[in-house]
Amino acid sequence: MGAGFRLAFGGRGREKGREQGEVRVVSSYTQHAIAHYWLALTVRSVKLSWGRVLRRGLGMASEIANGDKKKACVVGGTGFVASQLVKLLLQKGYSVNTTVRDPDNTKRVSHLAQMQNLGELKIFKADLTEEGSFNAAVAGCQFVFLVATPVNFASQDPENDMIKPAIQGVLNVLKACSKAKTIKRVILTSSAAAVSINNLPGSGLVVDEKDWTDVEFLTSEKPPTWGYPVSKTLAEKAAWKFAEENNLDLVAVIPSLMAGRSLTLEVPSSVCLGMSPLTGNEFLLNGLKGMQMLSGSISITHVEDVCRAHIFLAEKESASGRYICCATNTSVPNLAKFLSERYLQYQVKTELGELPSKAKLIISSEKLVNQGFSFKYSMEDIYDESVEYLKEKGLLSP
Ligand SMILES: NC(=O)c1ccc[n+]([C@@H]2O[C@H](COP(=O)([O-])OP(=O)(O)OC[C@H]3O[C@@H](n4cnc5c(N)ncnc54)[C@H](OP(=O)(O)O)[C@@H]3O)[C@@H](O)[C@H]2O)c1
Repeated sequence: MGAGFRLAFGGRGREKGREQGEVRVVSSYTQHAIAHYWLALTVRSVKLSWGRVLRRGLGMASEIANGDKKKACVVGGTGFVASQLVKLLLQKGYSVNTTVRDPDNTKRVSHLAQMQNLGELKIFKADLTEEGSFNAAVAGCQFVFLVATPVNFASQDPENDMIKPAIQGVLNVLKACSKAKTIKRVILTSSAAAVSINNLPGSGLVVDEKDWTDVEFLTSEKPPTWGYPVSKTLAEKAAWKFAEENNLDLVAVIPSLMAGRSLTLEVPSSVCLGMSPLTGNEFLLNGLKGMQMLSGSISITHVEDVCRAHIFLAEKESASGRYICCATNTSVPNLAKFLSERYLQYQVKTELGELPSKAKLIISSEKLVNQGFSFKYSMEDIYDESVEYLKEKGLLSP
């Protein structure tokens, strides 16, 4: 239960072309550099716990061993968020390993194949439910972005289709990270669904990183789609427990519903959900209303901002803990009003029944912003781009 809700308004040591599993050669120059960095790091970090110093020291050492090029693993490269993250990392000069369940599914991996033009991108086969599956993909990386999660909103058996595999998946990836010994930080993609769902009455709530979704409420009441928020909450909690016990530096990004253009062939369901007042898809519009009733708000962020936040938090030494990443909070009635006034060519319904126009809560990105992050996309930007995107995909009339 969210008890904390506030009421308010160098390539020198590395052999070129070395494949996974080959013995790493570290020159005496590199060993010296490692010792130097280690000392500097230790002096700089007197205020940090020894566990954090140790983790950062290991990460720094591996960066040196690999030369200047940073190496990251993105778990789930076929997804909406992960594919955008892979692209941004490649554009920033990272060498990227990404995992997919089925590398032979050309339809699902075609965008990744195209991105190989942008830089060094390797595709690995791995499944969240298979122990040891991620060992090869995370080996030698400094950063691991754990983005993938089992998503099946229509499931009749959320326990086995989402909750158990989500927890198992997080633990499998984190075990691989622990084993790799080179990981400086793991960045876990959590969800607003892991912080904002509760049965507290009233309005004017501000949800922040201290808050957790009320799993007891969800598992006893079982409202529609209850399995997804439970899976995200329990998987994130399992990640924190593992990280604590195994001295892993973990940061969790907590994004709201995302929209914007996708690199994947298929239009992501979250974009279709956020765009439902414009497309007029009744099923999805009801889903959006349900989201407001369950989560307390309609909170929207551009996918690129969420990916930028992942990289920002990976690179920011002082980052720690959970970070909500949400550009804007609204309600379905207010969203519909905004869309009906901005896109006059579409018949946006603004009579939406009983739904309150004032959202019950807002989820606050204050911690992320105070850390130095700034959002690039406003609500207008998010929807302008998404409208163009759906027009190109034939889901909105030109
Ligand atoms: N989209 C949003 O609005 C939103 C909002 C808040 C949080 N998030 C979080 O952001 C992350 C990414 O979401 P998304 O929208 O990008 O989802 P998505 O497009 O549906 O992608 C989900 C990814 O997870 C992978 N996956 C599912 N089960 C797997 C398994 N057993 N083993 C390995 N990979 C598996 C899928 O791979 P396959 O291609 O093999 O199926 C796919 O790549 C998730 O953690 C989600 O909870 C998303």
